[in-house]
Amino acid sequence: MHTKKIAIIGAGNMGSCLLGGLIASKYSEVWISNPSLSKLNALQEKYHAKFNITTSNMEAAKTADVILFAVKPLILPKVLIELADIINLNKPLIISTAAGVYENIIQHFLQAPSSIIRAMPNTPAMLGCGASALFANAHVTAEEREIAENIFRAVGIVTWVTSEKLMDIVTAVSGCGPAYFFLIMEAIQNAGISLGLSPEIARLLTLQTAYGAARMALESEKNVTELRAQVTSKGGTTEEAIQVLESANIRDIFSRAIKAADLRAEALAGIIAKELEP
Ligand SMILES: NC(=O)c1ccc[n+]([C@@H]2O[C@H](COP(=O)([O-])OP(=O)(O)OC[C@H]3O[C@@H](n4cnc5c(N)ncnc54)[C@H](OP(=O)(O)O)[C@@H]3O)[C@@H](O)[C@H]2O)c1
Repeated sequence: MHTKKIAIIGAGNMGSCLLGGLIASKYSEVWISNPSLSKLNALQEKYHAKFNITTSNMEAAKTADVILFAVKPLILPKVLIELADIINLNKPLIISTAAGVYENIIQHFLQAPSSIIRAMPNTPAMLGCGASALFANAHVTAEEREIAENIFRAVGIVTWVTSEKLMDIVTAVSGCGPAYFFLIMEAIQNAGISLGLSPEIARLLTLQTAYGAARMALESEKNVTELRAQVTSKGGTTEEAIQVLESANIRDIFSRAIKAADLRAEALAGIIAKELEP
């Protein structure tokens, strides 16, 4: 049982997914606030568990040990300003999931030194198998790191980055990552259908193969290069397919795609910073 009081601000996709993780991990005091009561009521119906809902951010945050902001980037300043006095009084750990909002911007709206962690989770967190990267500012203590790690471990695996710049690369790799794999699955599925499989069989074989490959890659002692070599016999069918992919420069395509996402994340952060300029 975790006894820290956690306040989640924003009951959208990310807020409700983190709430689900915290409930499953037996956090004893969780609050969640959102302007519309309907979303909060729907969460209570979904989870049948003991947590507190409110349309007042202040009520949720007032005695919290951790305030977890799960609102859209351009809404964040408004909510930070609203809660700045209580944050400066109680000094809770601040965690923000807002993509592209730099720690110094959060600090600016709080107007006093605060422990701030930026988190970049991804959508599989909804199933408890997300991949989150965390970045801590200089005020964050070892105990606060552990608290944040426990929260995000409730929805998947957690890793730390030591430079905030790396959060853009994390966005490009794991934040956007599910979409790359969905695209590959879509392509394999469609190829199977065009060669004669029924859509249902093509879908099932493709998805289970993706799941099985990911599990093998995570659980095997071999790295992905060795695992690929293991299923690629000389002169066999897999080798034929891999040769087609390699000659189409699949590695270069991915390298360019992820670089493009990284640059876009950096550009969006710049736009957000400009938009939020005091
Ligand atoms: N979804 C993801 O996979 C993902 C991944 C990584 C990071 N993020 C980040 O997580 C944040 C939330 O994303 P999301 O996808 O969860 O967005 P979302 O579904 O739109 O959720 C945002 C929630 O904030 C609520 N809200 C609006 N104004 C508020 C206020 N003044 N006080 C409290 N709550 C308020 C909204 O309520 P109403 O709808 O009732 O207005 C909505 O429920 C974003 O900053 C995003 O960058 C998301």
